[in-house]
Order: sequence, then C-alpha cells, then structure tokens
Amino acid sequence: MKSICLIGFMGSGKTTIGEAVAKKLDLTFLDTDSEIEKWREFDIPTIFETEGEGRFREYETQVLKKLPFQSAVIATGGGIIEKEENRKWLSEHFFVVYLQTSFDVIQQRLDGDEGRPLWNQELEKKEKLYKERKPKYIECADFILNIRKQSVSEVVDQIVSGIKQI
Ligand code: S3P
Repeated sequence: MKSICLIGFMGSGKTTIGEAVAKKLDLTFLDTDSEIEKWREFDIPTIFETEGEGRFREYETQVLKKLPFQSAVIATGGGIIEKEENRKWLSEHFFVVYLQTSFDVIQQRLDGDEGRPLWNQELEKKEKLYKERKPKYIECADFILNIRKQSVSEVVDQIVSGIKQI
C-alpha cells in the first residue's frame, strides 16, 4: 500500500491524526520534523535560529526524499509544500491527504505556542502565510478533509474510507 502523507498548516493535527491512522492500519508512523531533529541533533527552533529557514528547507527536502513509498503514515511540516520540487515528489509517490483547517481554529489551537518559529510572528504575517499556502496544499492533495468539529477517530475513519475509494 502507498504511504499516506498528511499535509496542512501548522496546528492542523497532522501528528495526532497520523499516529492514530498508523495505529488503526497497523502501519509505521513517521514525522518529517522528528526525522530532521534526529538527524541534525537539534530541535527545529534551534535549527531556524542558528542555520536559518533556507537550510531547514534543504534538510526537509532531503528527509522527504528518503521517506518510504510503501506502508507508512507520514506527518509533514506545514511548509513542506513551499518548494515545487517537494509538491511534485509528494504527488508522485504518496497518497496525500490535506487536513484543511480554518485560520481561526488554528489560531485557537496554537494560542501561546512558542515552539514554532513561523508561528512566532505578527498576526498579519501568519494570516498571509496561511492564504499563500492554501493553493499549494490543494495542488498536491489526493484527498482534502475539512477539519471542523470531528473527533480524532471520525477524521481517521474518513481518511481510511478515502483510501479505500482509490
Ligand atoms: C513549519 C511547520 C512546522 C515545522 C517548522 C516549519 C512551517 O511543523 O516544520 O516549524 O513552515 O509551517 P508543523 O506543521 O508540524 O508545526
């Protein structure tokens, strides 16, 4: 079975949902941010601070290209869709699920969060980023899920039935 890649803005629930889908389907769970942290031996905010976003994006692409094409559920960083090269790789090799969440919900979820360098900036800049990224998520998604008030298990069931349709 093709690996499932979850994409979406920061705070859309990729890790929580990904872990639950992997458990339900008995597949391996991977997270691109954790893979970068294990490889580089620094956490994401430190990488941003000391090496900059550009270098982080290079690490992210390298990690993306090493992900297994089969039998895994993968949570990706919110900015993985920024590079065209990554969008192409995602659509060519994975079943890509976009967890689409409104900006208001994300704001509520990430209120006070300081562990995400790109969330730690002015509201207008975050909103602009959200708007700019939306079409990029849509471009490489095989399946778009609108996350509103569903429970984690409801979202998991929707993803599992989405996979069965293809
Ligand atoms: C980022 C999202 C983060 C992480 C990094 C950059 C982004 O992952 O990759 O801080 O550009 O949106 P999450 O989407 O898991 O927060």
